[in-house]
Amino acid sequence: MNFSLSEEHRMVREAARDFAQTELRPGVIQRDTLQEFPDNLVKKMGALGFMGIMVDPKYGGSGMDTISYVLIMEELSKVDASASVIVSVNNSLVCYGLETYGTESQKEKYLTKLATGEYIGAFCLSEPEAGSDATSQQTTAIDHGDHYVINGTKNWITSGGRSDVYLVIAQTDRSKGSKGINAFIVEKGMSGFEIGPKEDKLGIRGSDTHTLQFNDVKVPKENRIGPDGFGFKFAMKTLSGGRIGIAAQALGIASGAYELALAYSQQRKAFGTKICNHQAIAFKLADMATDIEAARHMVMKAAWDKDQGVSYDTSSAMAKLFASKIAMEHTVEAVQIHGGNGFVKDYHVERLMRDAKITQIYEGTSEIQKMVISRAILKN
Ligand code: CAA
Repeated sequence: MNFSLSEEHRMVREAARDFAQTELRPGVIQRDTLQEFPDNLVKKMGALGFMGIMVDPKYGGSGMDTISYVLIMEELSKVDASASVIVSVNNSLVCYGLETYGTESQKEKYLTKLATGEYIGAFCLSEPEAGSDATSQQTTAIDHGDHYVINGTKNWITSGGRSDVYLVIAQTDRSKGSKGINAFIVEKGMSGFEIGPKEDKLGIRGSDTHTLQFNDVKVPKENRIGPDGFGFKFAMKTLSGGRIGIAAQALGIASGAYELALAYSQQRKAFGTKICNHQAIAFKLADMATDIEAARHMVMKAAWDKDQGVSYDTSSAMAKLFASKIAMEHTVEAVQIHGGNGFVKDYHVERLMRDAKITQIYEGTSEIQKMVISRAILKN
């Protein structure tokens, strides 16, 4: 067993750290306040290879492994979780889904542009009545021979207003339950496809979350992903990898808040000494450092499982469950260590605290992760 990163992994982490500090940090408060999508930064991330990290270079990707992906996600998320969720959805839901299950012509047409950042992708599973209970899809995709017609509403869609390609999950045959569900590639601008209102969110406010409406959207049959009825498995398999990305995002939010709290505590004085010298603060820092180390091991283990080609459904759910829990807890503590300064935007920790919450909700709530984990441990 080897716990050290390779030279290549250290270089990847350094490149992501450098980009986050020099490019993401300067405008992050403004983007959060004004809910500004980081268009130019997404282009720059595309140029650095961050939009198609694990994609084969023959489709325009960086050809890196999942360990590299989580290292990049952690560094971006320390500074800007809005930018990192765009990266995460594009990489682990959209690019991975297409590369693993798409046809050669789907890959050539869409993946090559998604992997370079020329296109942005969205993953459309959640609905007003089917968030956690994903088999209860109300959106329909009726088979008309050479095409399907999609009707319904999707909501909470990350990059919903900014994407070029949407992977849409819909019910084709309700009588078949989860085996009657399909996944489709829908392009921006297809007739009947409308982008609804943008959400005004608590956190990750620089990302772009929308409701989407499908009114008789005609989608050619060649845009279906996988065989008929594969849509639910497609969504579940893709989400298992997505959860590694969100676990890494939660880890980054926690470690970003910890680094700020540590630095602040070593400079701020109260009662005649730096506040880190008070045990009340030092013990908080010890708890944070310990939990972050544990979360990092779990995130790395899930990524390693995926790279080894072994099952990562449980390890990714565990990593997401734990990392999102400690992200929430320790961003609250980071605000507390900052005192009054923690409550204002300039010190960044209040934003990290707001951003942490979504990691316990999207790509499966903490309760869903517990369902996945408990089913795995109780199945025998
Ligand atoms: N891999 C492969 N197949 C899987 C699977 C997996 N990980 N998980 C389930 N399946 C299969 C099952 O084996 C079963 O197939 P069979 O009938 O052949 O046995 C089928 O799928 C149905 O599975 P279940 O009976 O277990 O389904 P369920 O209704 O009990 O639900 C669930 C399972 C885990 C709760 C699932 O509904 C779930 O993950 N829900 C949460 C969905 C979610 O994460 N939503 C987030 C939206 S995306 C998002 O947030 C993106 C973003 O923008 C940031």
